[in-house]
Amino acid sequence: MPIDIGLTDAQREKSVEALRKLFAETYALYSKTHGYHWNVTGPNFNGLHTMFEGQYNELWAALDEIAERIRALGHFAPTSPGALMDLASIKPDNAIPDSQDMVANLAKGHEAVSRAAKEGLKIAADNGDDVTADLMTQRATIAEKTAWMLRVSI
Ligand SMILES: [Fe+2]
Repeated sequence: MPIDIGLTDAQREKSVEALRKLFAETYALYSKTHGYHWNVTGPNFNGLHTMFEGQYNELWAALDEIAERIRALGHFAPTSPGALMDLASIKPDNAIPDSQDMVANLAKGHEAVSRAAKEGLKIAADNGDDVTADLMTQRATIAEKTAWMLRVSI
């Protein structure tokens, strides 16, 4: 059945491209945060292990929201981890960082998510896609709040 939500094919395509970029950054940050939850060491173990758990759960829920927005725009959700990691600016670590570097890396990761969301917000708003713009705004808001909490934890 054809899709008729007041956006042209080209408009939907542009929104989906921005959503894919946000999905990739969110996916890369989710993977990093869950790994840190498992591998963190040091005197702050309990606090950081618990804080990282809250963050990876929130990022996982966000992936579902972003993927389902892509579906609502008539496109398929990304499923290849390799393609997502290629698209993301957030890269895996070569070794296990110490706890302070973990916190700093996650703060930078949330800042990267915020930049992707705000870039996507501009694209969606210029495109007349208010629903995607709203999702981008929500993701930037949470990313910036989380980045703040991480920055002051070091
Ligand atoms: Fe766990």
